[in-house]
Amino acid sequence: MQLADLEMAEIEIHDPDFVNDPHAIYSVAREENWVARFPMGYIVLDQQAMRDFLTDDRCRTPIRDISNMVGVEKGTPFQRFYDHFFLALDGEAHKRLRRISAPAFTAKEAAKYRPFMKGTINKIIDSLDGAAECDFTKVAARYPITVMCDILGVSTDDIERFEEWVIVLSDAFSLNDETVAKLNWALAHLFDYADELVDARRKRNETKDDLLQTLVDLATDGERLSDEELRVLLINLISAGYDTTKNQLILMMKVLLDHPEEWSKVADDPGRVKKVVDESLRFYNPISATFRVTNVDIKYRDTLIPKDTMLMLPLTYAGRDESFYDSPDAFNPDRDRNRIITFGRGIHICIGMFMARALLEEALAVMVERIKNPQLAGEAVFRHFSGMVGMEALPISFEPA
Ligand code: HEM
Repeated sequence: MQLADLEMAEIEIHDPDFVNDPHAIYSVAREENWVARFPMGYIVLDQQAMRDFLTDDRCRTPIRDISNMVGVEKGTPFQRFYDHFFLALDGEAHKRLRRISAPAFTAKEAAKYRPFMKGTINKIIDSLDGAAECDFTKVAARYPITVMCDILGVSTDDIERFEEWVIVLSDAFSLNDETVAKLNWALAHLFDYADELVDARRKRNETKDDLLQTLVDLATDGERLSDEELRVLLINLISAGYDTTKNQLILMMKVLLDHPEEWSKVADDPGRVKKVVDESLRFYNPISATFRVTNVDIKYRDTLIPKDTMLMLPLTYAGRDESFYDSPDAFNPDRDRNRIITFGRGIHICIGMFMARALLEEALAVMVERIKNPQLAGEAVFRHFSGMVGMEALPISFEPA
């Protein structure tokens, strides 16, 4: 049977009903089949199939396909970026980049930065100056990027400089002719900025114990990152620091506002922090979807998926799969088994996952101590944009402690 001949639902991903509640539409489609159609290809609706395609080396990420489609010109900042961008590479080139960078992203390395993380979230809460309400999206927006500045040894005054460029970059997955010009502009600035950081660090007489130093040393010891690879990695880190973890922190606050008993339990027992973070990563995912394209014809579940088929993998829905979790729509940090693919699987599994987890755990531990009895104090507005989910506003009131 050919994939195109299967009976399946058709999902219009720009329809406001879908944008407002994709899980409801996925669930209806899932009753019909494990895949649904969408204008660019097929949406994979069960977690096992998502795992299978993420780990299948007969599939590629579509980043190069999309950049070819919009006609990225040689020598432009955009092409320089995609030449060394983890998610645009596969095979030996990708393996080599992961191998060299891996020592900078272990759980042990991430743990080294926990005191910075704790200090930063404390300072952000201090800056609320005893207020009993805030828009939590503003609090969250300052946290991962300030930590990233700290651990890259960069002044937080620089955030104002690079913020606009990074916001443009976060649109890189919704490529069209208009965004290409903007991306070239933003990336030209980001390449210059990364150059400045590396140059300044190399000119110092003494070394520092931070992530920038680790990365600069990776570029100078044994198997090396080229200077261009180092620049692209720094741009990646600054942009990953800006968006994903911030959105997850906001989504975690949202689910805890909906489950106040869980906030109290974790406040009484800080040993629950990790469990709550894990469950929030199952329940919500700031990466709403990733994509793969088949390199060859693939036979899967007795169905032939032709070469060059685009598969959308809605990672946010993977956490709600009934065949993986009992009562998947219930938020329950005490679940026995919480296998998640929030950080992906296979060769592209998130390199920053230990850092992201450490950021979320340190933030939650401090917040439950200092923000008592948080409540939703207005309308929570979701924001869906190019493969990501976040919130535009999350007004809360609380008792400051
Ligand atoms: C809650 C926060 C985060 C989530 C949910 C997340 C999720 C993901 C996912 C799902 C992928 C795989 C995408 C795919 O296979 O198509 C990925 C890749 C990646 N992430 Fe994260 N991420 C987070 C935070 C971070 C942070 C903090 C960093 C940097 C320190 C980071 C750096 C990267 C990089 C460089 C890749 C590409 C890896 C590769 O292609 O080999 N991420 N992330």
